[in-house]
Amino acid sequence: MTDNNLEGFVKVARLQDIPAGQARTFEIGDDSVALCNVEGVIYAINNICSHDDGPLGDGTLDAYEIECPRHGARFDVRSGAVTAMPAAVGVDTFETIINGDDIYVKFDQ
Ligand code: FES
Repeated sequence: MTDNNLEGFVKVARLQDIPAGQARTFEIGDDSVALCNVEGVIYAINNICSHDDGPLGDGTLDAYEIECPRHGARFDVRSGAVTAMPAAVGVDTFETIINGDDIYVKFDQ
């Protein structure tokens, strides 16, 4: 991969920072992102729950769904879509690239 492929992406973490089946939260500038490791694939989702600002990165990851630790809403980490109430609106997801051991995220889609 050349550096041109990383245009618009920001290095956020390393692969070993996010154990399989878990999520971790990272703050990049004004953005707070939850990186989720689903069977070795990293998905990036807005850390802030659309229901009442709960920290999704502190929630439980169950396959492709993450459950908000505040009131239990669930979101698909691939699309940000709501899969369980009480949230009614989805959250943003972000494109990721793995380069070596580094995880890059594109915040401006
Ligand atoms: S803040 Fe996430 S379910 Fe309420």
